[in-house]
Amino acid sequence: MCGIVAYVGEKDAYEVLIKGLKRLEYRGYDSAGIAMIDNPGEFLHYKCKGKVSNLEEFIGEQSKKGSIGIGHTRWATHGPANDVNAHPHVSGDGKLALIHNGIIENYDVLKKELGKRGHEFKSDTDTEVLIHLIEEVKKNEAVSLFEAVRLALNEVIGAYAIVVIDKDNPRELIAAKKSSPLVIGMGDDDFYIGSDATPIVEYTNNVVYLEDGEIAHVSLDTGLKIKQLDNQEITPSIQELQIKLEALEKGGYEHFMLKEIFEQPKTIMDCMRGRVNAQKGHVSLGGISEYKDKILAAPRIIIIACGTSWHAGLVGEYLIEDLARIPVEVEYASEFRYRNPIINENDIVLAISQSGETADTLAAIKLAKEKGATILGICNVVGSTISRETHAGSYTHAGPEVGVASTKAFTAQVTVLSLLALMLAKEKGAVEASKLNRLLFELESIPEKVEEALKTDGICRFIADIYMNASNALYLGRGSSFPVALEGALKLKEISYIHAEGYPAAEMKHGPIALIDEEMPVFVVATKGASYEKVLSNIQEVKARKGKVIVISSKGDETIREMADHYIEIPHTEDMFIPLLATIPFQLLSYHIAVMRECNVDQPRNLAKSVTVE
Ligand code: F6R
Repeated sequence: MCGIVAYVGEKDAYEVLIKGLKRLEYRGYDSAGIAMIDNPGEFLHYKCKGKVSNLEEFIGEQSKKGSIGIGHTRWATHGPANDVNAHPHVSGDGKLALIHNGIIENYDVLKKELGKRGHEFKSDTDTEVLIHLIEEVKKNEAVSLFEAVRLALNEVIGAYAIVVIDKDNPRELIAAKKSSPLVIGMGDDDFYIGSDATPIVEYTNNVVYLEDGEIAHVSLDTGLKIKQLDNQEITPSIQELQIKLEALEKGGYEHFMLKEIFEQPKTIMDCMRGRVNAQKGHVSLGGISEYKDKILAAPRIIIIACGTSWHAGLVGEYLIEDLARIPVEVEYASEFRYRNPIINENDIVLAISQSGETADTLAAIKLAKEKGATILGICNVVGSTISRETHAGSYTHAGPEVGVASTKAFTAQVTVLSLLALMLAKEKGAVEASKLNRLLFELESIPEKVEEALKTDGICRFIADIYMNASNALYLGRGSSFPVALEGALKLKEISYIHAEGYPAAEMKHGPIALIDEEMPVFVVATKGASYEKVLSNIQEVKARKGKVIVISSKGDETIREMADHYIEIPHTEDMFIPLLATIPFQLLSYHIAVMRECNVDQPRNLAKSVTVE
């Protein structure tokens, strides 16, 4: 949430910053700004409401010189999105500039204190308070900027990733982090900083991930030095980045979301690579397997996640309970952390997160850890905070997901959960060998079947054209297709702004059925399998009230063809793998509806990838 980029070296800082901001725009796009130093003692400081392209337009022919600078793309927390609240913010004496991700919780107290000492503020932001505090400490204590930042942060409560520059010193950046990620890229003779690695990967693969409570002094003269808030020095640990630049480009697609939808046969395959071999009856998740006895002995597994990852968790509940017969509870991380949950030492807490940075999921992990539970993670972003906070975990290997609406991360999460359920079932002997074998072969065939499901693109576009002006939509499913319905509804509302609800099909008659009239499209997952007949009855109930029924059905289902207003056929598979296939047309439908409504598919309003505030 909010993007940070910074550079110091010999290159043209403007190029690095603008390119970096464009790559980071998926993290926030309310406003953007940069501050650079060309002549020491003078900032080139530009910021405005809107996207990075607005900033470029605003800067126009004004000077862009300088080889040090900081840039920010904002997702508003304190104060509306406008020019004044955009970052960077400068100190009262105009000497220091700061960019900030996160929330300073005690900003009000600090603001009042600083106000008494004569500080005047231009914006509504907590960030401006922080730069005034750093200025105050620097002046009063007569210390270096690095030390002033350290001392100031000792007075701060909240979450932050910050970078500060001093217009009198164009050779250094000061950066610090707590509960909000920050990565430092180590070039040959220059340095890059990003709130994630996307603005860095083009220039270097060597990075240092700052840990909570660390402050970095990034200097062209003395290199990288890191201290903790308590002044203890830390030796930086350099790691190699795994992501490739091509993964951050659209690769010929009109939108990142469409590219990511079509990547799913490959991402699911990548996720399974080395983890399953049906021929040999092998299924294992390397990162988690040393905990398998503990999981099998656990009284229950608690899955914590938010949004789409929570939907994947619900599919996981069906899979693990059905196959491994271990009780599973699925919790919204944001609710779990605030309701004094009962967590025991023998419980397994499984956190699911694409970004690995979601603040609520992270806080829930910390709470469960304090109570002594074993914490496992399923994350996509390698090296992310959640992946480092958990005792063990498995990566989804879906590659960077840039579209704000999650697609390939969801199917990769469900794939890991399928592998986990199968691994536990095998270890426990909870399923017969022949059934296990059948399921493993079926799982191996899923990438091919997803490829086939993607061929529904044409019919999805056709159906999208019919329903693009709907004001409401209902999504129904039973069993593990209920989370698919929830996910379908979420996709539609987040990118096309059509109100949509996901419901267990049988629950419809307990309320939502009142909404149905001839204007209401009802999207139903009715594939052949356990609750097929029951869902057919639910479809009849909708039809009887003149609702329009669009069904995701198994290939060749004549009954559905006759019954539905429209049908989208997907390949046959085992019940438990239906979510991996049925999700695909829902993603495509939402995508096409959003494009037809001229919505910004990759950057929907009010949203941001990676929700690092509570
Ligand atoms: C929806 C979406 C969000 C995220 C949620 C959790 O398309 O992307 O609902 O799933 O914010 O994010 P992660 O998985 O990064 O923890």
